[in-house]
Amino acid sequence: MSMEARFLLLGLGFLLLLAAQHAPAVAIPGPECQTKCGGVDIPYPFGIGDNCSLSTGFNTSCQEVQPGVYRPFLGKYELLNISLVNGTLRELNHISTYCYNPSSRLMKPDIRSHDARLSPYRFSDVHNKFTVIGCNTLTYIKDRDSTAYQSGCVSTCQNLTDLTNGSCSGMGCCQTAIPKGMHYYEVGFDSGFNTSQIWNFSRCSYAVLMEAESFNFSTTYISTTKFNDTHTGRVPLVMDWAIRNGTMSLSCEEAKLNKTGTYACLSSNSGCVNSRNGPGYLCNCTKGYEGNPYLPDGCHDTDECKKSPCPSGGVTLSSAGGILFLAAIVAVLTRRWQRIVQKRLRKIYFRKNKGILLEQLISLDHNASDGTKIFSLNELEKATNNFDQTRVVGRGGHGTVYKGILTDQRVVAIKRSKVKESIEIEQFINEVAILSQINHRNVVKLHGCCLETEVPLLVYEFISNGTLYDLLQCEQNGILLPLSWEERLRIAVEVAGALAYLHSAASMAILHRDIKCMNILLNDSYTAKVSDFGASKSIPIDQTHLVTAVQGTFGYLDPEYYHTGQLNEKSDVYSFGVILLELLTRKKPIIENGNGERQNLSSFFFEELGKRPLDEVVDREILEEASEEAIMSMARLAEECLSLTREERPTMKDVELRLQMLRARQGVASRKRRDDEVTRRRKAVGANMINGAIPVAAASNHGSRWYSLEQEFVLSCVPR
Ligand SMILES: *[C@@H]1O[C@H](CO)[C@@H](O)[C@H](O)[C@H]1NC(C)=O
Ligand SMILES: *[C@@H]1O[C@H](CO)[C@@H](O)[C@H](O)[C@H]1NC(C)=O
Ligand SMILES: *[C@@H]1O[C@H](CO)[C@@H](O)[C@H](O)[C@H]1NC(C)=O
Ligand SMILES: *[C@@H]1O[C@H](CO)[C@@H](O)[C@H](O)[C@H]1NC(C)=O
Ligand SMILES: *[C@@H]1O[C@H](CO)[C@@H](O)[C@H](O)[C@H]1NC(C)=O
Ligand SMILES: *[C@@H]1O[C@H](CO)[C@@H](O)[C@H](O)[C@H]1NC(C)=O
Ligand SMILES: *[C@@H]1O[C@H](CO)[C@@H](O)[C@H](O)[C@H]1NC(C)=O
Ligand SMILES: *[C@@H]1O[C@H](CO)[C@@H](O)[C@H](O)[C@H]1NC(C)=O
Ligand SMILES: *[C@@H]1O[C@H](CO)[C@@H](O)[C@H](O)[C@H]1NC(C)=O
Ligand SMILES: *[C@@H]1O[C@H](CO)[C@@H](O)[C@H](O)[C@H]1NC(C)=O
Ligand SMILES: *[C@@H]1O[C@H](CO)[C@@H](O)[C@H](O)[C@H]1NC(C)=O
Ligand SMILES: *[C@@H]1O[C@H](CO)[C@@H](O)[C@H](O)[C@H]1NC(C)=O
Repeated sequence: MSMEARFLLLGLGFLLLLAAQHAPAVAIPGPECQTKCGGVDIPYPFGIGDNCSLSTGFNTSCQEVQPGVYRPFLGKYELLNISLVNGTLRELNHISTYCYNPSSRLMKPDIRSHDARLSPYRFSDVHNKFTVIGCNTLTYIKDRDSTAYQSGCVSTCQNLTDLTNGSCSGMGCCQTAIPKGMHYYEVGFDSGFNTSQIWNFSRCSYAVLMEAESFNFSTTYISTTKFNDTHTGRVPLVMDWAIRNGTMSLSCEEAKLNKTGTYACLSSNSGCVNSRNGPGYLCNCTKGYEGNPYLPDGCHDTDECKKSPCPSGGVTLSSAGGILFLAAIVAVLTRRWQRIVQKRLRKIYFRKNKGILLEQLISLDHNASDGTKIFSLNELEKATNNFDQTRVVGRGGHGTVYKGILTDQRVVAIKRSKVKESIEIEQFINEVAILSQINHRNVVKLHGCCLETEVPLLVYEFISNGTLYDLLQCEQNGILLPLSWEERLRIAVEVAGALAYLHSAASMAILHRDIKCMNILLNDSYTAKVSDFGASKSIPIDQTHLVTAVQGTFGYLDPEYYHTGQLNEKSDVYSFGVILLELLTRKKPIIENGNGERQNLSSFFFEELGKRPLDEVVDREILEEASEEAIMSMARLAEECLSLTREERPTMKDVELRLQMLRARQGVASRKRRDDEVTRRRKAVGANMINGAIPVAAASNHGSRWYSLEQEFVLSCVPR
C-alpha cells in the first residue's frame, strides 16, 4: 500500500470518527428541552425529563408543589441551584429526628438516610458538616458498611442557660466534618441516655448532613419541634458532581484519549479537569472563554462583541481531496499526540503508585512555616551543645533523646538511634514519613529531621512532663501524684481521639502498633501526646489488614495479631483497652497476683470485678469522684476493647465518642470542684518533692522518656 493510500484510509477513518462524535453517543438536548424550572437554571448535562440530560444521573423533574408553583427535583430532593463552574449543586436534605413520646415513654428515631451510590454525586466534604442539635445525645454518621466510615459527635446541655446563639461546639449543638468521597450516609442515635428527664424542655434531637454556611445555631432549636416535619425539616446540602459512571469512571486523561463517544466536553475551547471528590472529571471552558463546555459551541469568548461574527463550526472547504488531505494530516498529528499523552499518563501512574516516599513527603516545602523541615547537623550540634551527655533526657525504644534549644529559642527533643542497623534507619524514616503527614494536637509534633548523619536525627516538639507511665506508676518520695477521675477521662479521650484520627487519616489508615502508657507523653498541662511511631504502619484504606512480623510490647499485644501476624486497626483498640484498665486501677499491664504468678491485668481485673468490692479492684482515688455507674461504663468499654475476637471490639472512633459521652455526663460542677482540690494537693506534693530532690540523670530501662532539665528528678522515680 502506498503512503498516500494509507493516509487516505486514515483520513477516511478520521472522518468517520468525527461523524461518530456528532451523531452523538453523548446525547445533546433537543430544542424542546426545558432549561428552567421554578426560577432555577437547569444547564446541560442536567436536564428535565427524558432525552434532555447526559445520563439518568442528571435527569431532573419539574414538579408542581402547590397550585401554580413549580420546583425542580433531583430524585426526592428539591434542587436549589446548580453550578457548572464549581461542579456543585445544592439541594434540600431531610433531617433525621429522635423524639420523645410522653404517652409511650419511648424515644422514637426517624432516620433519613441519603443514598447517592451509583450516581454522579458525592457529598461535598468542603461545604458540609454533619450537624446535631439536642441535649445529651450521641449521634453517629456512618457509611453503608459501617466499618468503612463512622464518626459522630456528642452534644450536651448541662444547663439551658449555658447555651449561646451562634455557637455550635458541643453544648446543645455539635458538628463534625466528613471525609472526601462519601456517597451514602445514615444516622444512628445512641439510646444509652434516658431522655425522660429533659422532655419537658427538649423533646427532639436532630441530625443532618448540611451546608455549614447556612447553619447558625439558635438556642430555640433545643425546644422546637418544627424540624420534626417532612417539609420544614429540610436544609441545604451541597453535592459535588462529575462525569462519572459507577466503577467504570474515566479520569480526564483517559476520557480525552478515548474520544470515541463518551468524552463529555463537547465544546471547542473546552478542556477537562479531574474531579476533586471521587473519580471522574468535569469540563471547563479554556481561559478567555465562558459558557457551557458540555454543549457543542457552548463556550463563548468572554469579549465576544468585539469580535466579528465567524461562520459556525463545520468544514467549509470545497474540494473533497482537500478534506481528505487535511484529515490525513490531522490523523497523523492525532496519533502522535495520543502517544505523547499516553507516555505522560504512564509517568503519572508510576509516580502515583511508586513515588519515592521522602521526596514526596518532605518535598522541600520550606515556605510552609510549620511544615517538616530539614535541619543541618551544625544546627543540631549547636542546639545540644555537641550532643552533651547532660542533655540526654531519655533512652529506650528506638534511640537516645536529647534536649536541644534551637537558635530561634524553640525547645526541641532530638532523637538519635544508638545502633546503626539498617532496620532502625528504616524505622526512623518510617517515623518521619508517618509523622509528617499528621497534624493533631494529641500526637507529638515532628519539626523535622537531619539527614546528614548515617542514622537520621529526628527533631520533635519538647514534651516536658514525662509519660503517662510515670504519672501512674512512679512514686515521688513515696507518694504517687494525685490524678483525678476527670483527668483520667480527659487523657483517655485525648488518646482515643488521636488514635481514631490516625485510623481514619485520609487515604491511608495509620496503625500505631505500639500503644502503651510509656508512649503517651504529657505536656505541662497534662495534655496527652501519642509518640514513638517507629513501629507504625500505614495501610491503604481499602485493605483490611496487613501481615507483618509481630512487633509491640508484651502485655499490650493483641492476641489475634500475636497468633496470626495479621494486623489491623483493632490491634490498637486492644492496646488501648489495656490503658483504660491502667487508668482505672493504676496497676501495670502485667502484675503478680497473690500466688506470685504473673498475670495479665485484664484477666485479673475481669475475674475480680464481680467477686470483690469495687474499691479493692479499682484505684481508690477515683471512687471519691466517679460514680459506680461511670466506673462500670469505662470497665465495660475496656472489656469490649479487650475482646479476643476483633469483630467484637469497637472502632477507635466509637471508643472516643463513648468516652466523650462519659466525660460530658460527669458534669461541669463536680469537675471544677475536683480540679481545684487536685491542684491544691499536687502543689503540696510538688513542694515536698522539690525540697528533697536530687537531680539524678539515671538512664531508665523503659520507653523513651523526655524530660526537661528542670524536672530530671523525675528520673529518680522508683516504679512500684
Ligand atoms: C427522568 O425523570 C422523570 C421524572 O422523575 C422520569 O419520569 C423519567 O422516566 C426519567 N427518565 C429517565 C431516562 O430515567
Ligand atoms: C427519547 O428518545 C427515544 C429514542 O431516541 C425515543 O423513543 C423517545 O420517544 C424519546 N422520548 C421523548 C419524551 O422524546
Ligand atoms: C443558590 O440559591 C440560593 C437560594 O435559592 C441563593 O441564595 C444563591 O444566591 C444561589 N447561588 C447561586 C450561585 O446561584
Ligand atoms: C463557585 O465557588 C466560588 C468559591 O467557592 C463561589 O464564590 C461561587 O459563588 C460559586 N459559584 C456558583 C455558581 O455557585
Ligand atoms: C441553671 O443555671 C441557673 C442560673 O445560673 C441556676 O439558677 C439553675 O439552678 C441552674 N440549674 C441547674 C440544674 O444547674
Ligand atoms: C437566641 O436568639 C433567639 C431568636 O433568634 C432568641 O429568641 C433567644 O432568646 C436567643 N437566645 C439567647 C440565649 O440569647
Ligand atoms: C427513665 O427515667 C424515668 C424517671 O427518671 C424512669 O421512670 C424510667 O423508667 C426510665 N426509663 C428507662 C428506659 O430507664
Ligand atoms: C414527630 O413527628 C411524628 C410524625 O409526624 C409525630 O408522630 C410525633 O408526634 C412528632 N413528635 C413530636 C415531639 O412532635
Ligand atoms: C454507564 O455505564 C452503563 C453500563 O456500564 C451504560 O449503559 C451507560 O450508558 C453509561 N453511562 C454513561 C453516561 O456513560
Ligand atoms: C475506549 O472505550 C471503549 C468502550 O467505550 C472500550 O471498549 C475501549 O477499550 C476504550 N479504549 C481505550 C484505549 O481505553
Ligand atoms: C480549567 O481547566 C484547566 C486545566 O485543564 C485549569 O488549569 C483551569 O484552572 C480550569 N479553569 C477553571 C475556571 O476551573
Ligand atoms: C507538670 O504538670 C504539673 C501539673 O499541671 C505542673 O504543675 C508542672 O509545672 C508541670 N511540670 C513541668 C516541668 O512543666
